[in-house]
Amino acid sequence: MGVLYSEPELMEELWHYPVLYREVLELLAINRRKLIVDCTIGVGSLALKFFEAMKPDAFLIGIDKDGESLEVARRNLGPFEGRFVLRKSDFFNVAGVLKDLGILGVDALIFDLGISTYQLSSTERGFSFLKEGPLDMRMDKDAFVSAYDLVNNLSVGELTRIFKKFGEERYAKKIAHFIVQARRRAPISSTTELAGVVMQAFPPKKRYGRIHPATRIFQALRIAVNRELEVLGESIEIATSLLNKGGRIGVISFHSLEDRIVKHTFKNLASSHVLEIITKKPVSPTLGEIEENSASRCAKLRVAEKL
Ligand SMILES: C[S@@+](CC[C@H](N)C(=O)[O-])C[C@H]1O[C@@H](n2cnc3c(N)ncnc32)[C@H](O)[C@@H]1O
Repeated sequence: MGVLYSEPELMEELWHYPVLYREVLELLAINRRKLIVDCTIGVGSLALKFFEAMKPDAFLIGIDKDGESLEVARRNLGPFEGRFVLRKSDFFNVAGVLKDLGILGVDALIFDLGISTYQLSSTERGFSFLKEGPLDMRMDKDAFVSAYDLVNNLSVGELTRIFKKFGEERYAKKIAHFIVQARRRAPISSTTELAGVVMQAFPPKKRYGRIHPATRIFQALRIAVNRELEVLGESIEIATSLLNKGGRIGVISFHSLEDRIVKHTFKNLASSHVLEIITKKPVSPTLGEIEENSASRCAKLRVAEKL
């Protein structure tokens, strides 16, 4: 199949670089599959690569809990209308989504974790500390708790725990103290305001290192707001139960906390002879891909096959 679209034609803010897509296409053998589920379809960039490889009679089910991303995905996947369905749901509910569609088994499943460039660059979503925006960070806008709620209501102890557990942040307690002090004057309501408070809590010599001081704090809050790690292991188990024999599951993770869960879940399923692990070591992006898209540098892909 020829080139189906060219990246510059997609509006930049609607774009997401599909990380490790060549490896996903190959290891999930997308060109041989009939029924594929993208559990984190985002704006559909990876799905577009799938369509370049998929057989004409193959079908894709796309899931995401971000309704806005799904709207963008629907537009981006327009040329393939009739060959996919999109559903707004947490991937924890993948079994329910497939049941509603009357599907009993699928041939390939992919989870591309974290957030997309589209979400990160949408200032009003509040994911980026580099851009002024409301402290939100909800992937699902129908969810009740936002980053604003956590930052302005949790105790020093609770904030410290989140920053340590989900951000592995060395200065977690000091940052939590600074936040609680700052919000006594007025609630912390914007991304840049929070980034400023975090910066102040950092020792001056450490403020201008390779990584911005707010990086880990924003990661931690995002994980807490979206309860990202809570459902991951169980979702992989549920997804595996929906795979046909010989079908494959792939998970792309972006930090060690996620990868640890993926690794252990695969290991457990392998030891009970449900899965065979295909990637003995996780697959990382090539130097070429990292040069093209520096955001891919921490990505790790693990793939397993249903026995
Ligand atoms: C890295 S992006 C995926 C980008 C996508 N592969 C693409 O090419 O556009 C991760 C996506 O997963 C979604 N997501 C994260 N956790 C989710 C969950 N528990 N259930 C459903 N979607 C989730 C996010 O909203 C985001 O759109």
